[in-house]
Amino acid sequence: MFFVRPLVAALLVQTTLALVPIGYTASGLPFFLAPSGSRVQQSGRNMDVFAPNGTLIHTFEDVIPTNFKAKRQETLARRQEVSATEAYAQFSTTADNEIDSFNATFVVPPVPTSFDSQIIFLSANLQVLDPNGVPFGNLRAALQYGGSFLPGTGPFWTYTVQLEIPGGGYLSVSFPGVNMTLEVGQRINTFIVADPALDAETKEELGVFWHIAGFDNVPDSPTLEIGWQVPPQLVALELEEEGVSGASDYPAGSFVFEQINLNLTTGPPAAFYWNTSVDPTTDVQVKVDVEGSQDAQVSFVFPSA
Ligand SMILES: *[C@@H]1O[C@H](CO)[C@@H](O)[C@H](O)[C@H]1NC(C)=O
Ligand SMILES: *[C@@H]1O[C@H](CO)[C@@H](O)[C@H](O)[C@H]1NC(C)=O
Ligand SMILES: *[C@@H]1O[C@H](CO)[C@@H](O)[C@H](O)[C@H]1NC(C)=O
Ligand SMILES: *[C@@H]1O[C@H](CO)[C@@H](O)[C@H](O)[C@H]1NC(C)=O
Ligand SMILES: *[C@@H]1O[C@H](CO)[C@@H](O)[C@H](O)[C@H]1NC(C)=O
Repeated sequence: MFFVRPLVAALLVQTTLALVPIGYTASGLPFFLAPSGSRVQQSGRNMDVFAPNGTLIHTFEDVIPTNFKAKRQETLARRQEVSATEAYAQFSTTADNEIDSFNATFVVPPVPTSFDSQIIFLSANLQVLDPNGVPFGNLRAALQYGGSFLPGTGPFWTYTVQLEIPGGGYLSVSFPGVNMTLEVGQRINTFIVADPALDAETKEELGVFWHIAGFDNVPDSPTLEIGWQVPPQLVALELEEEGVSGASDYPAGSFVFEQINLNLTTGPPAAFYWNTSVDPTTDVQVKVDVEGSQDAQVSFVFPSA
């Protein structure tokens, strides 16, 4: 206790500029909300959040791993095993051949028949890995169920565009006052695209690789742009859940990502395969129905009640 006081005082000084968490996951990770069109840029070991007008509104401190090396060319450190339910593909990307676009389509499934305060994300993701293959940032466009502690959410489907910082929390973007509810049966397109024009502006020494995520067919939906000092090298379709306690906490049947398209700067990758992993604590299965980088299809099969 003795040491806590000066620490709190120091934190208060720093947080005058910072966003205040709008909620926490059950495991204690904070959620932050920023205006749509915000940009998050890596700066040393920090990630700085800038509002659309350029004002620095938040800093995630010391969230870049100490073994991080800014790189124009990414060597293929094989991704470490993660307890996530996902289909993912990893590449050697370079400044001249980075991930140019990663798109997918899905239909909003029926709502789970029971609500236990669970939160479910079904998302298309772009990730950066450290030299040991550990992800340190995840940009995603997600379908979200639950999360009633977050504004505008509840036991229905909503969308979110989000940066996940492993261990650091989540930053979502929104337009204030917009209803984020999605209708069951609605077809939604997710996109993650490179922004070479902004890369050129922020090139200076090591360069920053910018990507924008959003939904191209949902009116008034937000976008978020992230700049890391390495070209992201992994894409994934993922199920993330917290607080699910039985089959009826999932949507019935399966959830399908269709028309999954991935192009690098120079076009589709030469060699491409999806790998899958399953969180051992769930009964969900993930299947690659259609292989490849063009018009691929991935399904998550939920346990039957
Ligand atoms: C810039 O945007 C932030 C966040 O929306 C806002 O708090 C701030 O007042 C704005 N600054 C100016 C100069 O408009
Ligand atoms: C992905 O979607 C974006 C935004 O709609 C579009 O500009 C891009 O061409 C698409 N890429 C592919 C490979 O379909
Ligand atoms: C948001 O939209 C949904 C579906 O269109 C509707 O059922 C709900 O009442 C709306 N919520 C608010 C707060 O307007
Ligand atoms: C992606 O590559 C495919 C195959 O070369 C091409 O047909 C498509 O137009 C490309 N899409 C974009 C957005 O560049
Ligand atoms: C993915 O699976 C293929 C075989 O299908 C394997 O050769 C490759 O090493 C795997 N990649 C990763 C990153 O696990």
